[in-house]
This record gives sequence, C-alpha cells and structure tokens, in this order.
Amino acid sequence: MQIRRCAVLFVEPREDLDVDWASLFAGQGAIAATIQWIALAPHLGDEVSVDAAQLAALGAISLTLWQDRVACEAQFGAATITHLLDLGLLLSDAPEGAALRERDEVLRSQHWRPLSATIHMFSRWADMRVDKGMQFPSFEELVENYGTPPGPTIDRRSDGQSIALPQPERARLDDTLFQRYTGRNFDPQAVLPLATASRLLQRAFGSQGEREMAPDAFVLKKLSPSAGGLHPTEVYVLAQRVEGLEPGLYHYQPVRHALEPLSGMTTAQTEELALRMVADQDWFQPAPMMVVLVSRVERNFWKYRNHAKAYRALLLDAGHLSQTFYLLATEAGMPAFVTAAVNEIDIERALGLDPLKDMVIAVCGCGPASGAQNTVEMRYEP
Ligand SMILES: Cc1cc2nc3c(=O)[nH]c(=O)nc-3n(C[C@H](O)[C@H](O)[C@H](O)COP(=O)(O)O)c2cc1C
Repeated sequence: MQIRRCAVLFVEPREDLDVDWASLFAGQGAIAATIQWIALAPHLGDEVSVDAAQLAALGAISLTLWQDRVACEAQFGAATITHLLDLGLLLSDAPEGAALRERDEVLRSQHWRPLSATIHMFSRWADMRVDKGMQFPSFEELVENYGTPPGPTIDRRSDGQSIALPQPERARLDDTLFQRYTGRNFDPQAVLPLATASRLLQRAFGSQGEREMAPDAFVLKKLSPSAGGLHPTEVYVLAQRVEGLEPGLYHYQPVRHALEPLSGMTTAQTEELALRMVADQDWFQPAPMMVVLVSRVERNFWKYRNHAKAYRALLLDAGHLSQTFYLLATEAGMPAFVTAAVNEIDIERALGLDPLKDMVIAVCGCGPASGAQNTVEMRYEP
C-alpha cells in the first residue's frame, strides 16, 4: 500500500486555560494551561488533535510522492501511521481510503491557496443562533465589557493642517444613496412583485453581455466589478413570497435570466430555512426574497491559482454585488440587508454544495418595510 500526506495542513499549538482546583487548594497557581496540537486540514472540515509522534510523521511524509506504508511504519511506528490514516491526515491508495482520498483530490483540483482554504473551511458555522454564545452582543454590552470603541475617525496631522473640500453638488445618484439603509423591519405579509424581483436579479446579478476573450474562454459583463472579470459569484434565491414563484430555493441563471427551481417548500419550511440561514436573526427572516452569494472558487482560481489575493478578491466581489443589490432595492422603494453572520454549513446542505468548491459568503435580502421600528435601523436623517 502507498501513502502520502494530505495536500494542505496547518497545525496550531492550541492552549486551553482551566482552573486547576488541586493546585488552588495546594496554594499554587490556580490556572492550568493545557496545550495540544490541533491539525487544521481543510479537506476534513473538522479539526483533529494530534500528538508529538504523529506531528513528526506528518512533517516528514511527502504530500506529493506516494511512499510505501511499510517503510513509513518502520520509521514512525505502525500505530502512528494507522491513526493518521484513520484521521485522514495521511491518505492511502487502498480502496478503504477512497472517500478521504477523494476529498483531498477535490481540494487539490481547485487550486486553493492553502491558508485561504483553511480560513474558509474553519470559519463556517452550523446551527449558530443569535441567542447562543456571545456572537451578537449589543453596543451597550460591548461598551460595558471593552470600554468605549476607538473613535469613528482619525487625523494623521498633529498640526491640524488640512485642505477643506467644496461641498458636493446634489446629483442623480444621491436620492438612491441617501435612501439606502439596512432594513430590519420587513412586512411579513408583503409579496414581492415578480417585475421588481426580476429587475433586481437582472441588474444586480444578470449578464449584460458575453465576450470571448480567447477561444472558449468567456467572460460576462455585469453592472458590478469583478476581479479578473471572472464573475465567479453564483446567486441562489430563497423565495418566500415572490409573486408567481412557488416558495423554495432556486438558482439564478445570469445569461438566460431565468430561475432554476432546486427545491419546492412549504411556507413554514422557507421560514425555518430563512431563519437558519441568517443564524436566527429574526429581524431578517420576513424578507420575501433572500439571495445567497456563493463563489464558484474554481472559476476565480483558474486564473488566480494558489494566489495570495484570490480569496480576498472573492469576498470583495460579493461585497460589490451586495451594494448593487441594496441600491436596486432602494430604487424600488424597499430596504435591503446583507449579512455575513450566516450558517454556511446549513446553506451548503440545503443547496447541495461542496464547500471546497462553492464558498458561501453572504446572504442578502429585501422587501417592503412594515413601518414598525421593532429593531434598530440607521436611516439618513437630514
Ligand atoms: C459585511 C456586512 C455584514 C453585515 N452583517 C450584519 C448582520 O449580521 N446583522 C445585521 O443586522 N446587519 C448586518 N450588516 C448591516 C450593517 O449592520 C449596516 O450596514 C450598518 O449598521 C450600517 O447601517 P446602514 O446599512 O443602514 O447604513 C452587515 C453589513 C455588512 C456590510
């Protein structure tokens, strides 16, 4: 049997602090620190603990060349090699190793930058809820715990010198820019007219033209910028109450300007999924249409292979799309939202996506406002 190491592996000496009651009663230091090696291998998706002997083997076995298992066992011990194979940090060419080997092959085939793959895979949430843990503290709680925040602006000249700029003239974009705000009080009864949804999807995410840059190498023209012109961000729609659309999940096809139905749902199911997607932020749930932004990494990494900036570019791309989405919603007289506090793992399951290939980045949504002010909003007040 031949074995090799997984393609990407980072190891963290993780420290856990605990009150050591025995030491406390013995009159010694009361805090005990335990340090263990945590292996972060993106193809696994879950972190695993390894010991020093396993770490030594991982540091000496090639990730490229296949080596004889028996020789490795002679060098590092049979138990160490077997355990690493069971964990999936070492891979074998044997049939029983096929599933883990295949995950590693998927990772290799996408041309991820190793650190980017690790950040992505280990920053995803499953079943996170606003009331769980300290993920969503209020401003009051933050100030109580951390003191006041660093000020909203800085000056870089200690002598106070600065050149005053003329006030901008009012111009056409102003109406939309000044009306834009993040909605947190959506009308739970409102139905989004199909024409509104359609314009929003087409202008925010649709193709305005196709160009062949080289034989069989196509790019799309869209109304937001995209790194390398590649537009790798796919758009999935959760329709809760959109005129003429059955409630459920759809994929937006930007060239055909069409929705591909993926799964039909009851209204109760879309409500449950909407809430789960945005980590129980119930102020977003009633939005009649939500849009999930998902990067098809292979498309960007085709050009930006193993590239230090590629991951950042994908996040920036999604940010531009969300702002365009906000402005179109505003133009249509509706608030919108974007959130990165999303349960990526639940969304991947609902959409049947592999996180090594399709990176869930954010969820946007929009809909008519209810007129209530149950949750805080930041509207421009002249
Ligand atoms: C990347 C990003 C993530 C955000 N995540 C959340 C979120 O999780 N929950 C939320 O209520 N608002 C979220 N927002 C909205 C911001 O809170 C909002 O933009 C900010 O308070 C300013 O208000 P405005 O958009 O009305 O001007 C997010 C905005 C951005 C750009």
